[in-house]
Amino acid sequence: MSNSSPFNPDLINTSHTRGDSVRAIHFHNQKLHLLDQRLLPAQEIFLTFTTPQEVACAITDMVVRGAPAIGITAAYGIVLAAYQQIDKDTLNLKDAFKTLAASRPTAVNLFWALNKMQSELENCLALSTAEQVAHLEKCAHDIYQDDILANQSMGKLGASLIEENSQLYTHCNTGSLATGGYGTALGVIRSAFQGNKVTQVYAGETRPWLQGARLTAWELMRDDIPVKLSSEGAAGQLLRQGNINWIIVGADRISANGDVANKIGTYNLAVLAKYHNVKFMVVAPSTTFDLTIQHGQDIPIEERPSEEVTKIQGIQIAPEHCEAINPSFDVTPNELIDAIICEKGILKAPFDINIQKLLGK
Ligand code: MRU
Repeated sequence: MSNSSPFNPDLINTSHTRGDSVRAIHFHNQKLHLLDQRLLPAQEIFLTFTTPQEVACAITDMVVRGAPAIGITAAYGIVLAAYQQIDKDTLNLKDAFKTLAASRPTAVNLFWALNKMQSELENCLALSTAEQVAHLEKCAHDIYQDDILANQSMGKLGASLIEENSQLYTHCNTGSLATGGYGTALGVIRSAFQGNKVTQVYAGETRPWLQGARLTAWELMRDDIPVKLSSEGAAGQLLRQGNINWIIVGADRISANGDVANKIGTYNLAVLAKYHNVKFMVVAPSTTFDLTIQHGQDIPIEERPSEEVTKIQGIQIAPEHCEAINPSFDVTPNELIDAIICEKGILKAPFDINIQKLLGK
């Protein structure tokens, strides 16, 4: 891994649209370049990766994060593994698949992308090794582009539910940084803003990684969408004042009954929304649904190091040796959700039946 590459992302066309200026993932000349999201907004530095092991570490260490972005990155990790073996008679990518699958447990997009790459590989075994590598690279590019298109479709669908003069609250970062581009929940916010329906966006700061403060505020300000940062504890007061029309969030995994695993703190917001009669929207592409899991309680929840809670950006804030818990995600039960937007349509209760109709085989 290096950061001394002369790589310039501006030279590559990555299907930007107006009001959507960020692309954090670039694959170019057999190398993967990732915008280091741990350093934002202070520094905009791209790191360069050439092996699947380095890519797996980048996912675990949060260089790249957000469910769809993790899936796209893992697909490129497989492409790097394939390039390493391009001179061999056959490709053996088992270790690469295993290492990448172990990088983070909750976002199902990671496993979806790896399964897709695996089946594409199985479908092209009759080709030469070089042709197989080229096929895998095209497949990863398709996963990337399809994610952007899905986000743009969800943006339109979700925005159709938002009334004029709305104030919206969002959590974590679900924008171009967390996806191929445009964003899921932030894509709906972008579309609604472009449709002149949004007067104010509130971004919850999102402890402990501060994705709201560091990333969402940065993305929205770059694209001239009016954003105010809110500490997590201020959400109740904000909702009580009656100014928020919708809380809009993304998802890392949605079970067959419509329960939603998303960034820790999402469940708190959904409970607050129900109490205050504020509508609650989840926005996620079909690659975030896991129909093999019936209920949210069976979704694996990542537990991250306790130092992420006892320190802020490396600075100790709790007493030395203080123990902490750090679940990275929580599960919001479907009865707290008004609508789930996916690129194939708008889902409402009863979620189990409607998810099966829209996405079941
Ligand atoms: O730990 P992170 O930053 O990867 O968590 C991200 C989230 O929880 C997002 O809300 C989710 O992945 C949806 S992003 C489009």
